[in-house]
Amino acid sequence: MSRSEDMIIQYLNEAHATELALVSTLRAHIAMTPQGSYRSLLDEHLDVTRRQADRLERRLAELGVGRSLIQSGVGAFQSLLGQVLALGKGPIDLLRGGGGEEKLLKNAKDECATEALEIATYDALEQVAIELADEVTAELAAEHRTQEEEMLAALREEIPRLARDAVAAEVYGRKAYDSSEVGAVHAAQEAAESASRAASGLAGEAAEQAGQAARKVTGTAKETAKEARRVPGVEAAEGEARGAVASEGDLPIADYDSLNAGEIVERLPRLSQVELGQVDAYERRHGNRKTILQKIDSLQGDAPWAGYDEQSADEIESRVRDADDDEARKVRDYERRHKARKGVLEAAERAVATS
Ligand SMILES: [Fe+2]
Repeated sequence: MSRSEDMIIQYLNEAHATELALVSTLRAHIAMTPQGSYRSLLDEHLDVTRRQADRLERRLAELGVGRSLIQSGVGAFQSLLGQVLALGKGPIDLLRGGGGEEKLLKNAKDECATEALEIATYDALEQVAIELADEVTAELAAEHRTQEEEMLAALREEIPRLARDAVAAEVYGRKAYDSSEVGAVHAAQEAAESASRAASGLAGEAAEQAGQAARKVTGTAKETAKEARRVPGVEAAEGEARGAVASEGDLPIADYDSLNAGEIVERLPRLSQVELGQVDAYERRHGNRKTILQKIDSLQGDAPWAGYDEQSADEIESRVRDADDDEARKVRDYERRHKARKGVLEAAERAVATS
């Protein structure tokens, strides 16, 4: 391969890797976006982005780059982009807080930044191709850039409305939508995956930074993740996200590393679903002991209602008094397996008997 082809391939590869990284970012954003004009825009651009990736791949193939080489080029570049995109938007976003409305606004701003990066990437690719007399690639770059410019303009049109919604929610308490309806589980899972990738795949320094950032927000995490917690499964995912970057001091069990498996198993029932997820992720990265992982598995499952794990016995007892049969049974069964507080169990039994 000539030096000029090499250079074009390098720039094509970069554009291709950027598009692939954007596919996963868009999927995560779509999962937390309610139906409406902004959601439609993201849906459409996901299709566009996939087609762009395909087209770049075909052009690389025409230039004699085999699939395996395209993929390996992607790997290196994606881990770099991952630090910017996935790490910037993943677990840390999830924990940092702000309502769903603010999250959407932040997503839209990040998407604008990504589009600007893509536009510049295609500017460079086009000019490199022109200089090296590769008209086909130059044309492809120009077409893709037009699509990115359209997306950037459309995103910017959405931002004033998203900002108004954020003010209405944060300042005046008027929610524009219920985030439990828009796939927060999926978003949390994506976040957990990003966190695991960050913890396992990145160089030590980046993982350490992620860890520090995650630890910094732990204090506010309880408050801020409540929105998402209304959805089944989201607590475990949030815990996994935190555990993937946790160090011993962050764990809900003191002196974790110096306890034996039996001592840890004994303490697990007192933990919330989020904490179980956190210990699970930590244990998998360290001792990976079967007895602990199995016990966590047996304790994992949705609490009777969102926020149950954080409530006091009094709060639960007063709600369970008016609970229907189904909810009272859920409380009884869950409480038996977890904290087994006497007052809660008695209140639940009474509610089951009378409903
Ligand atoms: Fe694109």
